[in-house]
Amino acid sequence: MNTAINVLVMIAYVIYFMLPAYLANVSALAFGGGSPVDFNRNFIDGRRILGNGVTWRGTITGTAIGTAIGFIQGFISGDWGRGILLGLCLGGGALIGDACGSFIKRRMKIERGRPAPILDQLDFVLGAIVFASLVVVIPLDIIIFIIVITIILHLSTNIVAYLLGIKDVWY
Ligand code: CTP
Ligand code: MG
Repeated sequence: MNTAINVLVMIAYVIYFMLPAYLANVSALAFGGGSPVDFNRNFIDGRRILGNGVTWRGTITGTAIGTAIGFIQGFISGDWGRGILLGLCLGGGALIGDACGSFIKRRMKIERGRPAPILDQLDFVLGAIVFASLVVVIPLDIIIFIIVITIILHLSTNIVAYLLGIKDVWY
């Protein structure tokens, strides 16, 4: 009983901590589009550097939303300066991680929007953790917990986005 409650508290804590990263990712999906970050340019292998799935509008909107969520969390905890910084690192880090994932996918000849299991679920969470680690110390067991929770959440939100017609594929 006690352990079950502890696990639930831990899940809630992880989701709350990662909220700037999650909402940055969702905002990029919801508001993204237009000019791609790579400006349609190809890499030396003749394939797109990042592809049309990484756009300026999505990246900027997502980072701004992540930072705003961090500000609100910081306001709640009483240190809005730290909140803004953490929100910026988690939100911006998530989108940089996602762009790195797209870069790797293009090098592996995987077209934009095609699945790369594990990479698709991990790229943004690892980006968020790496950049957040510049501001806070995240213990390894918490990192593993964050990754497990994120994979489950990511797959479920993608399925919802697919059902709503925002995403073309369910994964
Ligand atoms: N998006 C965006 N800008 C970003 C990240 C995402 O505009 N920096 C938008 C794009 O419209 C993208 C959608 O969110 O298509 C979903 O993101 P993601 O699943 O990462 O992109 P994919 O289309 O699957 O492309 P890739 O294969 O490069 O991951
Ligand atoms: Mg992607």
